[in-house]
Amino acid sequence: MHNPINLSTPFQLSSSVVLPNRIVKSALSEVLADKDGNPNKSHINLYKCWAEGGAALLITGNMMVDRNNTAEPHNVVLDEKSNLAAFEAWAAAVSNSGTHLWAQLNHPGKQTPYYIVWEPVAPSAIALTGGLKAGFNKPRALKQDEIINIIRQFATSARLAKQAGFSGVQIHAAHGYLINQFLSPLHNQRQDQWGGSLENRQRFLVEIYHAIRHEVGADFPIAVKLNSADFQRGGFNEEDFISVVETLANIGIDLIEISGGNYESQSMSGANVQTSTIEREAYFLEYARKIRDRVKVPLMVTGGFRSASAMNQALQIGETDLIGLGRPFAIDPNVANKLLCNSNYKVGIRQLSTGIKYLDQLTLINITWYEHQLARMAKNQTTQPNLSPWLSIVKTVQSAGIYRLSKRRI
Ligand SMILES: Cc1cc2nc3c(=O)[nH]c(=O)nc-3n(C[C@H](O)[C@H](O)[C@H](O)COP(=O)(O)O)c2cc1C
Repeated sequence: MHNPINLSTPFQLSSSVVLPNRIVKSALSEVLADKDGNPNKSHINLYKCWAEGGAALLITGNMMVDRNNTAEPHNVVLDEKSNLAAFEAWAAAVSNSGTHLWAQLNHPGKQTPYYIVWEPVAPSAIALTGGLKAGFNKPRALKQDEIINIIRQFATSARLAKQAGFSGVQIHAAHGYLINQFLSPLHNQRQDQWGGSLENRQRFLVEIYHAIRHEVGADFPIAVKLNSADFQRGGFNEEDFISVVETLANIGIDLIEISGGNYESQSMSGANVQTSTIEREAYFLEYARKIRDRVKVPLMVTGGFRSASAMNQALQIGETDLIGLGRPFAIDPNVANKLLCNSNYKVGIRQLSTGIKYLDQLTLINITWYEHQLARMAKNQTTQPNLSPWLSIVKTVQSAGIYRLSKRRI
């Protein structure tokens, strides 16, 4: 029988939350916060723009739970020292439109650049490798009491997000950040209750979930962004992924967003993904298929979706409940409306490169170029899909340089 579900079909996420359609703006780090990590007029402008663009749910760029450990200069930080009124104004800008807004919470662990933290923390003292390693110092292993403290920091940020008017939170457990580091047997070589078996490696994530649930109550949506795999020899793999999904489903997670990769293996934006998979769109859909029948938890797949037809097909077959889009929203705030109105619509995304692979990796060209587009939208300017990758590199190096000079190493 034909399954009538398509992008426009509302989705009952939980007993109290209904999303008006299936399109979600996945987290896009805005790097627009002030020097204290507070959001401002830029966030309000940007999110108003997206709120009018038709998506059912906007997930914020990663907000840091610890102001001493941020993934990038100008990340938002949400803790007891934050200016909550600024967060309330941000949330109100979106909730007035009826669009859902969830705060993505993150701790970068060893993926904290050396010009932000001289000695970052991680489950184990294992340095980052690969093309980006020059930007990151070797971490030290977290002590037990520090682990407990970070769990509390996640819970505090979630409580404050709810208080400020965000309608849900997402725990960032993907892309090689601290929670992902704990999950990975390659990055987590601890011998205590936080390392070793998968049960121990997932303990940090599970404890964060419980601590957040305790703070926000049963009805407040808590999502997790999880890697299908790290795509690294000895890293978090498909088998681990299936087990962690089952655990999360059992403890009551409201939504699992499936992604992949980390700074050492950047599959989240299509690197290391087979050309045939990129052509079929949705890099991680096959992983959703693998867990679909095992768990009842709502699923969202992010990475590579470009055409309304591929999105509708994935929904109709029942492989995923929600479609996550990142870069399409960075070049066209109205992309959801276009996809909802036209089943033949396809987003055009440029393959970005300077022609020098090392430089592309070093400057995270696939992130920084898009961050420049977000900065334009935040100033109520139109995006520049033809912007030269070189120009975005110059701007990025300038801004990191200024930040390095103005911030003392911790
Ligand atoms: C500029 C930029 C910033 C991003 N920031 C985040 C982030 O803060 N948190 C996160 O989970 N993913 C982040 N991502 C990854 C996206 O959420 C998404 O997983 C990825 O872009 C793949 O989806 P797409 O092919 O639709 O772009 C970012 C991606 C880009 C391009």
